Amino acid sequence: MTTLSMSAAAPRCFAVGSRAQSGGTRKATTAGRTARVSRARGASLIARAAFTPAGAKIAGVGMAVPTQYLTNDDLSELVDTNDEWIRTRTGIGKRHVISGDESLTSLAAEASKKALAAAGVAAEDLDLILLSTSSPDDLFGSACTVQAAIGATGALAVDLTAACSGFVVGVVNGVHFIRGGEYKNVLVVGADVLSRYVDWRDRGTCILFGDGCGAMVLTSTPDPSDCCLLGFDMHSDGAGNHNLTAQFAYEAGTDTAGKSKPTAEGGDAPSSRGAFCNIGMNGQEVFKFAVKTVPDTVSKSLEKAGMTSEDIDFLVMHQANQRIIDTAAKRFGLGPEKVVSNIAKYGNTSAGSVPIAMAEAVEEGRIKKGDVVATAGFGAGLTWASAILRW
Ligand code: UT7
Repeated sequence: MTTLSMSAAAPRCFAVGSRAQSGGTRKATTAGRTARVSRARGASLIARAAFTPAGAKIAGVGMAVPTQYLTNDDLSELVDTNDEWIRTRTGIGKRHVISGDESLTSLAAEASKKALAAAGVAAEDLDLILLSTSSPDDLFGSACTVQAAIGATGALAVDLTAACSGFVVGVVNGVHFIRGGEYKNVLVVGADVLSRYVDWRDRGTCILFGDGCGAMVLTSTPDPSDCCLLGFDMHSDGAGNHNLTAQFAYEAGTDTAGKSKPTAEGGDAPSSRGAFCNIGMNGQEVFKFAVKTVPDTVSKSLEKAGMTSEDIDFLVMHQANQRIIDTAAKRFGLGPEKVVSNIAKYGNTSAGSVPIAMAEAVEEGRIKKGDVVATAGFGAGLTWASAILRW
């Protein structure tokens, strides 16, 4: 199990900048040998690496979902299920599913444009786009096509895969790029179109997943102590990977190394081919994992922020199952007025669920400037992550 856990407010992030100010000598270790760097050479190296530390704030959020949706009654025509079971066991009423020209890129671009408009930031002023997704339109990622679609010509655009924890991990990353002083405007997008990988014959999974996307613009502020990320906590446990997967498999005609096999006619098959399998999930195990890890990780983030659950204005969790949300809310003594839930409308949109819920809560006038928002994601990997944000 690997664990990454620290407070964003800690001044240790800015050690390079403070050395530059002091202008003294320092030790550099290379391949186990320690060498003293001369004052003059050290100063020039440090000068190149020194960025002015900055604060970071949430400037705007936006969301987009596909036009078409499937109700529980629609699904009851595909598999042996019914509206009452799905609502009682999950809280889901419908889920949106891409169709026609819609794609992960088109949804992400729509949500991003809304977030940029809300932030008052021009696309060409973005320095970095982090696209959290497990279902890009292209094997090599979709961040660059989102960049092109919104006209963010000056931004580095990269994909980040951490399944349903992806958006929270993306925000923590985005804030740190800004805190380091190098980037001023960062767009973090959480997007998934898992309907592409759903087995519509499997009632254990097809009732859960929907497609959707949310986006957040983070911008720098001059005061390093002014940071929207008050505390965070992130984890992975690959030993539990088998509980939620959509694995790559080679198509018949190619061997497991992907090399073409001779055909019956004696020639080589044209090339190796394969595809990702449908989503396979051990629902009960993932449920148990979620109800344990979410309260644990949120507690750790609160502790690092120097806060208690009484300081939480809103809990915005990954929308996977209403019963998981209710369990966490109960653990922290939070009433429905402090819990954001839209799972009834969208189902589980994976990396999209947290930013969609945030964008809706802002649009409804619930989350406002100054509010303390506790957020958490969990899912495949296995991964889980939480953050305490000051809006
Ligand atoms: O972002 C990814 C994170 N994923 C999750 O968080 C998923 C976490 N897990 C869950 O949300 C729940 O485990 C499910 C919603 C997937 C399943 O709910 P459950 O309460 O754990 O149901 P179960 O698997 O224990 O099944 C209970 C019964 C079984 O019937 P029997 O054996 O008791 O006769 C199932 O066959 O419910 C049956 N069942 C269904 N019945 C009607 C399972 N799925 C359905 C269905 N409709 N769709």
